[in-house]
Amino acid sequence: MNDIYEAIFSRMSVRKFKKEKLNGETLETVERLFGELKPLDESIKTRLEISTDSRVSGLFSIKAPHYLLFFSEDKPGYLPNAGFMLQQMDLRLSAMGIGACWLGFAKPSGEVPKDPNLEFVITLAFGEAVGEVHRKDRSQFRRKEITEICRGDQHLGLIEAARLAPSATNSQPWFFVSKREKIDLYCVKPGFIKTLFYKRLNEIDSGIALLHLFVAAERAGLAPKIVIDRDAMDNPPEGYYYVRSIEVER
Ligand SMILES: Cc1cc2nc3c(=O)[nH]c(=O)nc-3n(C[C@H](O)[C@H](O)[C@H](O)COP(=O)(O)O)c2cc1C
Repeated sequence: MNDIYEAIFSRMSVRKFKKEKLNGETLETVERLFGELKPLDESIKTRLEISTDSRVSGLFSIKAPHYLLFFSEDKPGYLPNAGFMLQQMDLRLSAMGIGACWLGFAKPSGEVPKDPNLEFVITLAFGEAVGEVHRKDRSQFRRKEITEICRGDQHLGLIEAARLAPSATNSQPWFFVSKREKIDLYCVKPGFIKTLFYKRLNEIDSGIALLHLFVAAERAGLAPKIVIDRDAMDNPPEGYYYVRSIEVER
């Protein structure tokens, strides 16, 4: 996934799109990329579909010529898996100079063919941007400081890549515990009121951050492995729940 590493440091959400559709060749390339996505959990069946405006509606929706609709089996871990997979598309589209924005509240209309075994999870709007597709430098990211989201002083370069990840309402619900041989990823437990709204989206966000960590670790030649670490799971920082760990070779 070396080809998407650079995009981590320049990508941004694009919310204004030209009306015109992308040409057929570009859409074919986008479709071909589906088959190349690395899942977090290979046992979870997923499907991506390109849709058009008339088939997508919903709260806070934005107008784009195309939408990627992500469908998945509802199995444990399916939300981080969706974040992990669809963020590869977000970064690839950015690398191709195509604008994109995650849409947490859009829904496909009844016209989309339904597979009874797969549920709709989330949407990524995409198309040719009106205006910039890339940030010029890192100072243009509005993000928490690394000291707020991390304990330990190892692998700060990898955590920096995850710090820049997009998240719903930019809430950045993640926390990292770094050790020499691994990084543990945790996600904030939403309060009572926020649970309804955010729990699902926060889980998707945590998969996005994990993808950024993984891509950066691969790029650094650390042969990353994503694992579930019992000890890390049993000892979360106060107010957080465990997501996954990334083991690295040193
Ligand atoms: C899971 C998820 C859902 C999101 N939903 C929306 C949305 O419904 N509408 C919107 O305008 N932006 C949405 N965003 C984009 C975030 O607001 C954006 O990623 C965040 O503010 C950081 O800005 P950046 O992507 O430009 O770095 C979503 C992002 C994620 C990861």
